[in-house]
Amino acid sequence: MEQLLKVLPTSKNIHPDINVLKAIYRQSLEDPESFWRKMAEELFWYEKNGPAYDPLPEPPYAAWFSHWKTNISYNALDRHVDSWRKNKVAYYWEGENGERQTLTYYDLYKEVNRFASLLKDIGIKKGDRITIYLPMVPELPISMLAAVRIGAIHSVVFGGFAAYALAERINDSQSKVVVTADGTFRRGRLFDVKRVVDEALKHTTTVEKVLVIKRANNNVNMIEDRDYWYHELVSFSDSYVEPERLDGIHPSFILYTSGTTGKPKGVTHGTGGYMVWANFTQRVVFDINDKDIYWCTADIGWITGHTYVVYGPLLTGATSFLYEGAPDFPQPDRWWSMIERYGITILYTSPTAIRMHMKNGEEWAKKHNISCLRILGTVGEPINPEAWNWYYKHIGNEKAPIVDTWWQTETGGIMISPQPGLALVPLKPGSATFPLPGVDADVYTEDGRSARPDEKGLLVIKKPWPGTLITLWGNPERFKRSYYSRFPGVYYTGDFAVKDEDGYFWLLGRADEVLKVAGHRIGTIELEDALISHPAVAESAVIGKSDPVKMQVPIAFVVLRPGYSPSPQLRIELINHIRETIGPIAAPQTIYFVSKLPKTRSGKIMRRIIGAVVEEKSIGDTTTLEDETSVEEARRAYEELKLEMERGIGVEA
Ligand code: PRX
Repeated sequence: MEQLLKVLPTSKNIHPDINVLKAIYRQSLEDPESFWRKMAEELFWYEKNGPAYDPLPEPPYAAWFSHWKTNISYNALDRHVDSWRKNKVAYYWEGENGERQTLTYYDLYKEVNRFASLLKDIGIKKGDRITIYLPMVPELPISMLAAVRIGAIHSVVFGGFAAYALAERINDSQSKVVVTADGTFRRGRLFDVKRVVDEALKHTTTVEKVLVIKRANNNVNMIEDRDYWYHELVSFSDSYVEPERLDGIHPSFILYTSGTTGKPKGVTHGTGGYMVWANFTQRVVFDINDKDIYWCTADIGWITGHTYVVYGPLLTGATSFLYEGAPDFPQPDRWWSMIERYGITILYTSPTAIRMHMKNGEEWAKKHNISCLRILGTVGEPINPEAWNWYYKHIGNEKAPIVDTWWQTETGGIMISPQPGLALVPLKPGSATFPLPGVDADVYTEDGRSARPDEKGLLVIKKPWPGTLITLWGNPERFKRSYYSRFPGVYYTGDFAVKDEDGYFWLLGRADEVLKVAGHRIGTIELEDALISHPAVAESAVIGKSDPVKMQVPIAFVVLRPGYSPSPQLRIELINHIRETIGPIAAPQTIYFVSKLPKTRSGKIMRRIIGAVVEEKSIGDTTTLEDETSVEEARRAYEELKLEMERGIGVEA
């Protein structure tokens, strides 16, 4: 064991021996206590009482480092400031209009301390929630780290969500403080972020203070005794705040994500297990070392940004790049020009972004010397072999391996992926290859047996792993139901998958009512509820339609209330209604007006039928029908819907 662990992670070279990978994997599952204790020792702990791995009788079936004490901000900052990394660059930041900022670990440490001191001054204590609604500016990681420094729990809400969605998340987490900005720039246009907060706060009761970061010099409305300019208050702050000594299971953040009901799920991560998982996966998957300049293009408002823009890179002492704007502004070579300028060595992005660049053409990348790239990554949705090959050839110059990383908001970090930090297996375009150490992944059939090679099934994780969510905020019952009831005792991912003859995992997309739109997770029922909240809508069904770039786009079917008739204006009004409630990321591509929705006798909407009509597939192509639907009934519903669409009721105006 000792011998093997010495090579883990290398952080120097890509280890050539695949047997090492296999042996480490086996040992991680056979002896999780020694394995994770060893991995945890890379980090700083105030106390190490009791086991690293503490089995529990109920979900998530283990608590990690429950009685160990640590602080993530200490590990991400103070630990480096006490070392030669003090003046190493933590973040290079670039705004869309070309502004630049460089923050060393020491700079970041000072900013985080001041922010933490301010949070304490305004009454935030350990366990309090703060909502962060910010664009991609350095103050975003700074405010997250300030929160975890004092044991407060952050809930970052992605800037693409609108007022209603923001209010819902503030209410669910009962946040006392909102951190926001006076604006941001996207494709050259100013976005008034603060206005969204003002609108949201009309529907909340818990927020006492709003801290506003000056970013855009935009004239915003400041409400007395509620809204404060961050730069004014922080001038009174202390330069050092002692980090809270937190239990391993203390919640560090809530991140809302979509599930199969209308209400988003408050995925809650702990402190010790999450920190170890972020640090471990960052090293094993990206083989990151001190010479790297690393860029994960995800917005921090999603889990990828939490773990691989903020916590993973800072825990490992890496230098990262942060970019605020659009990928193709002012020209489609914006990314490639920045990769050349900063000498970026590791690029981690989404298949949607790759397909967008592919559509723009490789000539934009060819204008720049991007041979500095040595590892490429993708996440968030399955990558089609065509996009994989384009990425490999034109961006990686056929020498940089692609790490196709499968994971979820709930898993805290990467679960299935090539692992160049350990040993690089031969890659197969479109496969995420093998599970990481500690991840006991399998593919189950509907009736809970391990699927045979090449048999499609559902991805499950059979043992607890350190990065697991610890609960759903305020809803432990939903936590158990969502993840541990489909197959008792086993974590259910909600994804289709297949394991091939060589044991490689292929992830095939969601098995539930969740869409992946440009890599973003969007609940169809959330959209349906939002549509029904409009006075014209009696009923609605939302499905995902295949899209060559975004993978899926939402399409809505709507039955109107008496007194309303279909019109192009109403269609636009309903699309805008979604934009203004949930946000532009969820806007349906189109809306079809129909007189009724296809339903089973028990009243359940037959989404697969709608999907088949929209995709112009025959009903025979729909794999499984809802249990209680007879083939005859389904066929009739299919024909009726098709006829209605052909009659032109639903055709886009
Ligand atoms: O369907 C899978 C897909 O994204 C889902 C998780 O979404 P979210 O919680 O928003 O987290 C995204 C970033 C980690 C999964 O259930 N997914 C994620 N990565 C991949 C993927 N599908 C295929 N291949 C991947 N590499």
